[in-house]
Amino acid sequence: MTADPTQPKSDNITWHGGEVDAAARARILGAGAVLWFTGLSGSGKSTVARRVERMLLEDGHHCTVLDGDNVRHGLCRDLGFSPADRAENIRRVGEVCGLFAQANVLTLAAFVSPYRKDRDQVRAVVGAHFLEVFVDTPLEVCEARDPKGLYKKARAGEIRGFTGIDAPYEAPAAPEVHLRTAGKTVDAAAAEVVAALRDRGLLG
Ligand code: ADX
Repeated sequence: MTADPTQPKSDNITWHGGEVDAAARARILGAGAVLWFTGLSGSGKSTVARRVERMLLEDGHHCTVLDGDNVRHGLCRDLGFSPADRAENIRRVGEVCGLFAQANVLTLAAFVSPYRKDRDQVRAVVGAHFLEVFVDTPLEVCEARDPKGLYKKARAGEIRGFTGIDAPYEAPAAPEVHLRTAGKTVDAAAAEVVAALRDRGLLG
């Protein structure tokens, strides 16, 4: 037994590779990739991710969206918003993204993911074809939108540890895509993301 949390709990398990290597899989199925949308609550992560999903599907690409609010209804329903719970949320989702990418799915993940080290861990797990998309919308704009009324509750002290109010958001230092959403339509923002995939040869 090992106590290292990055290693399997049991020593008695063995990694099995496949008969078809990643390059051959990609020739047959197209590339897999992870687009990791990070930003404040209400910044537009899910909205842009959903539009990108539609554009990619209409163009015949196999893709899917993993969204924070949705995943917290299932896989991560036991987790809250402490730094440790957020780290575990992002760790689990990062592993799922890695599995989807290995299955040659273009995976769009929309999570606040406020801590740089958690996002960097996902990048390390996924490996190649990880694109961090910083959905850069000023706090004032997110708060004015307040689609779920959560900023109002956070300001009133009814929610503790709300990102941007009394919990930190660590902006990416060098995201692959820096989406400045101010004055941009959803279509224009989504098109920037699709272009980033195309520029990297990930759309065949
Ligand atoms: S993360 O920090 O662990 O990445 P995640 O993306 O799964 O967060 O969930 C964020 C969503 O949960 C927000 O869009 C918001 O609707 C809701 N939420 C509830 N409490 C909080 C909180 N304390 N901080 C941020 N978002 C919260």
